[in-house]
Amino acid sequence: MDEAQVKLYYKNVTEEAIGAEHGISAKELEALAERTSPLIGQLNNERKAGQTPYRDLPRDSKIAGRVKGLADEVRDGCENFVVLGIGGSALGNIALQTALNPYMYNIDDAQRSGPRLFVFDNIDPVQLSSFLDWLDPRLDKTIFNVISKSGRTAETASQFLIVRKRLVDRFGAEGFGRRVIATTDRNEGTLRKIALEEGLRSLEVPDGVGGRFSVLSAVGLLSACMCGIDIDSLLAGARAMDERVSSKDFRRNPAAVNAAINYYFYNHGKRISVMMPYSFALKDLADWYRQLWAESLGKAKDLAGNEVHVGPTPVKALGTTDQHSQVQLYREGPNDKLFTFLQVEDFARDVTIGAAPECAGELGYLAGAELSRLFNSEKKATEYALLESSRPCLSVIFDKVNAYTVGQFIYLFEVTTSFAGALFGIDVYNQPAVELGKNATFALMGAAGYEELAERIRGRGEIDAAYFA
Ligand code: PA5
Repeated sequence: MDEAQVKLYYKNVTEEAIGAEHGISAKELEALAERTSPLIGQLNNERKAGQTPYRDLPRDSKIAGRVKGLADEVRDGCENFVVLGIGGSALGNIALQTALNPYMYNIDDAQRSGPRLFVFDNIDPVQLSSFLDWLDPRLDKTIFNVISKSGRTAETASQFLIVRKRLVDRFGAEGFGRRVIATTDRNEGTLRKIALEEGLRSLEVPDGVGGRFSVLSAVGLLSACMCGIDIDSLLAGARAMDERVSSKDFRRNPAAVNAAINYYFYNHGKRISVMMPYSFALKDLADWYRQLWAESLGKAKDLAGNEVHVGPTPVKALGTTDQHSQVQLYREGPNDKLFTFLQVEDFARDVTIGAAPECAGELGYLAGAELSRLFNSEKKATEYALLESSRPCLSVIFDKVNAYTVGQFIYLFEVTTSFAGALFGIDVYNQPAVELGKNATFALMGAAGYEELAERIRGRGEIDAAYFA
């Protein structure tokens, strides 16, 4: 078994590291431990009672078996694998691919171990037209995976109908059926109905698992498996983290500590949470985290129905790129952010920097150094600069980036989200505020049953020419 670990390092949020005005004191940390420790038992009990089924995904060998079986059925002759989905039905797929396959995977045949992967998570007509121009002559070598738990999200449904028409026109109903896999609710919803009626292969979004907690189900696993990612190792990593985040010992439980620190800083004026990977591979995990954190923790009401309007604002940044874009603000702007760096100890590959020309002796310090050393030195340097400005910094340290550690990271942040929700006293698993926008789209597009809402939108949405500048 791979022993590579993901660890949370939190000294740099303490008073010792950034001073008493902004840092957590030993006494406050003790109080946080006391406040959070009972929640460990609470979350473990909720899980036992089946209230958080996402927690058991890494132990469900049936899902991985079904995914692998289906991947074997469609792999032959599949040069392109296209995921149609949005939000929790897309972000995990993108994150796994960026983390675990080479940067040039889609471009360089020698670097790919499966079909090219495209995750189409938007409905921009210009973007989609260009993609379809490229894809049309390759349709016979393409498999589509349409993912939607509800089955009627407008973006995914429209993409699906566009693709369906092209496939039916070209290959007939049967050929269409062979080229599309639906991942959706086991029994209910529009996509399940279509899958049954039109004879599509299908996988399940497990009951009670919301989109943003579903990456370790068939939602994220099929595209990963098709593209040569070791899904067994991914799930093993998640299981290893499950042990740690179930620990009753607060200081040994990285999800409890992570959530408690985030909660503390939110209540001490640092309401923005910046995740900054120093690894291109990890950059889309920061995007995945952004949705997980925002949709789960941004809530108007607490569990007792009181109006609270809580929620840290997640921001993603990328080292070193954003050192030259954001760090001026991060150091000298308002001290209202908690930083979480993602750091890699041992990069899968390295590049040695060449010699400096004689006329540029000032570049000599770079000559012969490994790029990984420069990369991690810049992480340390940025963190040092932030600490000098009394900005709290967490680090999530990956021994290496591989399927096993990425599985650990995903599970760590999912359970951190559950802990943070318990501390805020809110329901992390719903997203009531997203519904109104979805329904307003149905209304604006003329869907039956939304006439009254369409009327209300017209009342608000009339363009008032007086306000053009
Ligand atoms: O996390 C969530 O629940 C959402 O982001 C959904 O994944 C997103 O809205 C897409 O929904 P669906 O899978 O029903 O198409």
